Parts: sequence; C-alpha cells; structure tokens
Amino acid sequence: MSLYLVTGGAGFIGSHLAEALVGRGERVRVVDSLVTGHRRNLAHLQGVDFIEGDLADIDIARRAVDGVDVVLHQAAIPSVPRSIQDPLTSHRANVDASLNVLMAARDAGVKRLVYAGSSSAYGNTPTLPKVETMPAAPLSPYALQKFVAEQYCQLFTRLYGLETVAIRYFNVFGPRQDPSSPYSGVISLFIRALHEGHQPTIYGDGEQTRDFTYVTNVVDGVLRACAAPTANGEVINVATGGRISLNHLFRSVRDLMGATVEPLHAAPRPGDVCDSQADIRKATELLGYQPTVSFEAGLAKTIEWYRAAQPVVA
Ligand SMILES: NC(=O)c1ccc[n+]([C@@H]2O[C@H](COP(=O)([O-])OP(=O)(O)OC[C@H]3O[C@@H](n4cnc5c(N)ncnc54)[C@H](O)[C@@H]3O)[C@@H](O)[C@H]2O)c1
Repeated sequence: MSLYLVTGGAGFIGSHLAEALVGRGERVRVVDSLVTGHRRNLAHLQGVDFIEGDLADIDIARRAVDGVDVVLHQAAIPSVPRSIQDPLTSHRANVDASLNVLMAARDAGVKRLVYAGSSSAYGNTPTLPKVETMPAAPLSPYALQKFVAEQYCQLFTRLYGLETVAIRYFNVFGPRQDPSSPYSGVISLFIRALHEGHQPTIYGDGEQTRDFTYVTNVVDGVLRACAAPTANGEVINVATGGRISLNHLFRSVRDLMGATVEPLHAAPRPGDVCDSQADIRKATELLGYQPTVSFEAGLAKTIEWYRAAQPVVA
C-alpha cells in the first residue's frame, strides 16, 4: 500500500480523489488550509490522516510530504475573478505553495507528483480544440499562476529528476462543488439558484462554450497519471472533448430541475475566455483515458446530490 498526499483534499476535486483512493485501499493523507474547502467533504471517509495548514508555509509542506509516495497537488484558490481582485493572495496559494510542495516532494524522495493544471492557460487562442502543444496565453492572474506552477513541475522534472505530470482540467463539476461564493463554478451556482427559486446570472450573451467535465472522469485521469510510465514530465488535457454553451447548460439544468425562471444577463467578466474545448488524444495515448460519464449523466447526478444535501426550506 502506498501513501498518497492529496493537497487541497478538503476541496471539491481533492475530496473525490481521496474517496477514490480510500476505495482502492490506499493510505491517504490530506493537507488543507480550509480557505475554500471544508472538513465535511471528508467526513464520510475512514482513516484519512488530516493536516490543517497553509502550504505557503514550507514547514507545513515538509510535514505533509513526509513518508509520502505520491502527491496529488490540488490545493489552490481556483477563481479567475478572485485572482483579479486580489492577485497576491491567489499567488501565494497557487504559486508559492506549489513551489513549496515541489521542494518538499523533491527532498522527501516522492515517487511522483501529479499537478492540477488548468485549461485557463490556453486563454483565447482561437483554434479549437485546445491541444497541449499550443502556446500559453493566460488572461488572468489565476491562469498565469496555474501555468507558472505547471512550468515549475516540468522544471523540477528536468533539473532534479522529480517525476511530475500536469493534468489540465476543463470546468469540472459534480457533487460537493461549493456554490456558496460568487467565485464558485457556474454549474453549482445555477443549480443553487434554481433550487432556491432565484434567477441565476449569465455573464455575456451565454454563447461562450466550455468542456464541462464530470468529476469522476477527472479522478480517473489523475489516478491513471500516478502510474503511467510515459506520462512523466508531460502536460495532459483531461476532459470530455466536447463543448456546451452556457445558454445550453442553463436550459439543461432548468429542464432537469423542472424550473421555469429565466436567467439574468450581465456584462462579460474580464479574464473569462470565450470558448474552451479539449483535445483529449494525448490522454488517450499516454493514460489510456476515455471519459466514462457524459455531461448529461453527470448533471443529473449533481442535481440529485444537491437536492439530497440541501433540502428546500419550507
Ligand atoms: N474546478 C474546476 O473546474 C477546475 C478547473 C481547472 C483546474 N482546477 C484546479 O483543480 C484544483 C482543485 O480545484 P477545486 O475545484 O476542487 O477547488 P476547491 O476550492 O474546492 O479546492 C481547493 C482546495 O485547496 C485548499 N487550499 C487552497 N490554498 C491552500 C493552501 N495554501 N494550503 C493548503 N490548502 C489550500 C482549499 O481550502 C480547498 O480545499 C485546483 O488546483 C484548481 O486550480 C479546477
């Protein structure tokens, strides 16, 4: 049995990774500052070793990786608008903390580190789908910070021989995604608004598109990246390979929830990209990855979870 460290494991995606690892009988440690995550996301899991701490503190990073075989580095403040409002705080979480985790992993002899990269690195490059060989064109501090940490991963592989794989996620959604802040993922915000009978806001005309990916697919891609021999030092998209407009998403959520409200429209947000769709051929070649849960099936599961977790208050 290996020991896995999930940084940011009390967050949305990290808690799903921890759950999958526990399900496989692996030993799991989580380190999380709880800046956006919650202890309750891990409450259903037995035997997870939890460290509360900020990875921007190198001593926390060293304590967290001690004795660890594989690091799944998920910790970040994952919001474009928040990074525009407060770039320094985002930088500390997304870059400083990542460098600490890499240094601690290198010094502790970790076998592999798999990093949660972001499709935001592609920016508004006009060609679709986005292929890993395209140049980065970040449009926000968040996108730049995620890209910088990805570059650090590759540098640590080249300079120090630490095995790293950067997986670029594209708009992940699913149970436990937190809808409680305006910075939250759009699907969780739509579901919450419709559940509470409010009108959700669509920024821009709603024709912007995203490769919405159900979290189970991401977990599968990341766990494959922990072991795939030819993935070392690579950047790999993990998504569905499709794209759906926000207007289409809104109508799908509304139909599934049996709601009738219309959305509000507001000005486009700075830093948001127009269209995003992944080329997933590299993930298929190097990881044997294929998405197994469709957008529609994932949406239905997410709504079902949300309704069970947040019953309507009469
Ligand atoms: N959700 C998406 O669509 C998406 C898309 C692309 C990339 N990502 C990346 O995936 C990762 C996980 O995102 P998520 O959606 O689960 O977000 P999340 O906010 O639910 O999880 C991030 C976790 O990291 C923790 N954290 C933040 N800074 C920390 C620090 N300095 N030290 C320790 N813990 C810290 C937070 O408390 C939280 O639990 C992030 O790296 C994010 O950038 C997410």
